[in-house]
Amino acid sequence: MIKNLLEGKKGIIFGALNDKSIAWKVAEKAYEQGARFVLTNVPVSIRMGTINELAEKTESTVIPADATKVEDLENLITKSMEILGGKLDFMLHSIAMSLNVRKKRPYNDLDYNYLQKTLDISAISFHKLLQTSYKLDAINEWGSVVALSYVAAQRTLYGYNDMADAKALLESIARSFGYIYGREKKVRINTISQSPTVTTAGSGVKGLDKLLDFSERMSPLGNATAEECANYAITLFSDLTRKVTMQNLYHDGGFSSMGMSLRAMSQYEKSFDVKD
Ligand SMILES: NC(=O)c1ccc[n+]([C@@H]2O[C@H](COP(=O)([O-])OP(=O)(O)OC[C@H]3O[C@@H](n4cnc5c(N)ncnc54)[C@H](O)[C@@H]3O)[C@@H](O)[C@H]2O)c1
Repeated sequence: MIKNLLEGKKGIIFGALNDKSIAWKVAEKAYEQGARFVLTNVPVSIRMGTINELAEKTESTVIPADATKVEDLENLITKSMEILGGKLDFMLHSIAMSLNVRKKRPYNDLDYNYLQKTLDISAISFHKLLQTSYKLDAINEWGSVVALSYVAAQRTLYGYNDMADAKALLESIARSFGYIYGREKKVRINTISQSPTVTTAGSGVKGLDKLLDFSERMSPLGNATAEECANYAITLFSDLTRKVTMQNLYHDGGFSSMGMSLRAMSQYEKSFDVKD
C-alpha cells in the first residue's frame, strides 16, 4: 500500500452523511494518506447523520454550510484556511438531492420548483464552490477539485429522473471552469462517474437493487464500491495526476463501454418463454 500520498495537503470534504457516504470513505482514505481537512454538510444532515464521529476519527473540524448559499461557502472556505493554516490543495464535492426523485414525480411530470432545487443543489453548487474559491484565491497551484457524477449524464437509465440533467450540467461545469481555473491558477477540475452504490442518496433511485445487479453483470470488473471510489479520488488529489483536468473519469468496472455482456445475456435468456 502506498503511503503518505497526500502528506502536507489541506482540503475540504463535502457530503459525508454517514459511514455509507462516498465522502466518508474519501475522508478516511485522505486521513490515512496524511491529509488534513475540514468536513462540511448542511446543518440538517449534521444533526441526522454521524459526521461528528468521522471528525473525531480523522481529527478534523466540522463547519456547517449549505452548498447552494454563497455566503455559507465564503464562510466555510475562509474559516477552513484559518484552521488549516493556509490555502487549500483539494476539495471533494459529493452532493446530490432531487425532490422529484424523493416525491416520486416521474420525468414527464416534473415539479419545476423541485427541478430548480435539484439543479441548484446537485450541479450549480459546484459552480458556486469553484467561483467562491477562485475569488478568494483559496486553492494552491496544482490543487485538485473532484465532484461525483453518474453515467446517466450520457445515457438514459430508467428511474434516474432529473438527476440525469443535473449530472450533465455538473460535468459541463467541470469542463468550463476547469479551463479557466487551469489557465489562470493551474488548478485541475474533474468528475468521477461512479458505479451505482448503496448509500442514502443512491437508495432514492428507483429500482436501485435491479440497477446494481444489471450493472454488476454488465461490467467486466463488477461494480466499483464506495471505498474503491475513494481510492480513485485520492489519486486525483495527489501529485501523480497533475495534468489530468476537465475530464469525466469513469470509475465503473467498464460498464460505460459495454453494450451486452455474457452474464447479462444469460440472465435475460432466463426470462424468455420456453415453448416445447
Ligand atoms: N450512490 C450512488 O449510486 C452514486 C453513483 C454515482 C454518483 N453518486 C454521487 O455521489 C455523490 C455522493 O452521494 P452518496 O451516494 O455518497 O450519498 P449520500 O446521501 O451519502 O451523500 C449526499 C450528500 O449530499 C449532501 N447534501 C444535500 N444537499 C446539500 C446542500 N444543499 N449542501 C451541502 N450538502 C448537501 C447530503 O447531506 C449528503 O451528505 C452524489 O453527487 C451522488 O450523486 C452516487
